[in-house]
Amino acid sequence: MAQVAAQTMDVKSIKSLAESPALSSVPSAYAFNMNPNDEADPNDPEFAIPIVDMSLLTSESPDQRSKIIQDLIKICQEWGFFIAINHGVPESLMKAMIDACHGFFSLPDEEKEEFKSGNDVLEMFKYGTSYNLALDKVLLWRDFFKVRVHPEFYSLYKPACFSEVSMEFSKRTREVALEIIRAISESLGLEPNYIHDAMNMDRGIQMLAANYYPPCPQPEHAIGIPHHTDHGLVTLLIQNEMNGLQVEHNGKWLTVNGPANGFFVNLADQMQILTNGKYKSVMHRATVNNKATRISIAVPHGPSVDTIIAPAPELLEKEGQAPKYIGMNYKEYIQLQQSSKNYMKSTFDHILA
Ligand code: OGA
Ligand code: NI
Repeated sequence: MAQVAAQTMDVKSIKSLAESPALSSVPSAYAFNMNPNDEADPNDPEFAIPIVDMSLLTSESPDQRSKIIQDLIKICQEWGFFIAINHGVPESLMKAMIDACHGFFSLPDEEKEEFKSGNDVLEMFKYGTSYNLALDKVLLWRDFFKVRVHPEFYSLYKPACFSEVSMEFSKRTREVALEIIRAISESLGLEPNYIHDAMNMDRGIQMLAANYYPPCPQPEHAIGIPHHTDHGLVTLLIQNEMNGLQVEHNGKWLTVNGPANGFFVNLADQMQILTNGKYKSVMHRATVNNKATRISIAVPHGPSVDTIIAPAPELLEKEGQAPKYIGMNYKEYIQLQQSSKNYMKSTFDHILA
């Protein structure tokens, strides 16, 4: 323990470590064993990732809309994950956002450290490496930053283009997320605005969370982000040309491979709570590779901090069910998820198995 702590003190960024010429193996503080037997065969039809054509949701034809809403029921129950295409966000904007994040991570460590802050997930912004250096038993092969972009918009002030690009990207991505949330409401037999209104989305929390995974000499002996579920309602994720996201489906890990201009969409914990477990918050993780740096940008969309999330009474009544979860406000939930006690439980018990 003392040894790990001593090593972690020296880690400024995984980027700097990965760039050191002497690095030929994964340092012991990062050692994580992947089990190749857990991987899904992407050619098996059972693991064909659902695709949702967003243009059908906004289509004039009510038949097309109701077909895609029907499909969503199955997708949300069986996968909790899909790829959204034809969503209207220009590919050039997605690329500009990735480039702006790349620009940030390419700054010298000292400059990036200006953006370090406390450990509260609701900080305006936060930069770091691994997950939480004070808690991590195994270090993660990633650097990250998070910026809160809704209800108030905050931004990094470096690189210079960041603010303008992230404002437009955040706004456009939010429109897609809200459209998805409307469709999910409808798929549950509720009014399209039910979730939006019940979750006070007009004051909802939205983050821009970027991950930087440099090449790793032994990718099967390290992890970018170990398995977890996200807090919030839905997370939209984009990446550069490198794959690495894996979702758990039917007990296997499936590497997500999809159209470059699609959004990877996962349902998150508050959606599972709201639907009393009908829709699932999908378990996922990020693997690393030995070829090129991977950058991903996750955009979680959640309720307002003070919203109490509990199974929706209208659904319980419709399905004749008792609630499976107690109500808790969003801020308390996030704090619980990120507390040292729960962090070890939800994440590290499994990593060390
Ligand atoms: C996350 C996450 C996966 C990825 O940031 O919560 O799950 O592919 N990222 O980077
Ligand atoms: Ni995640």
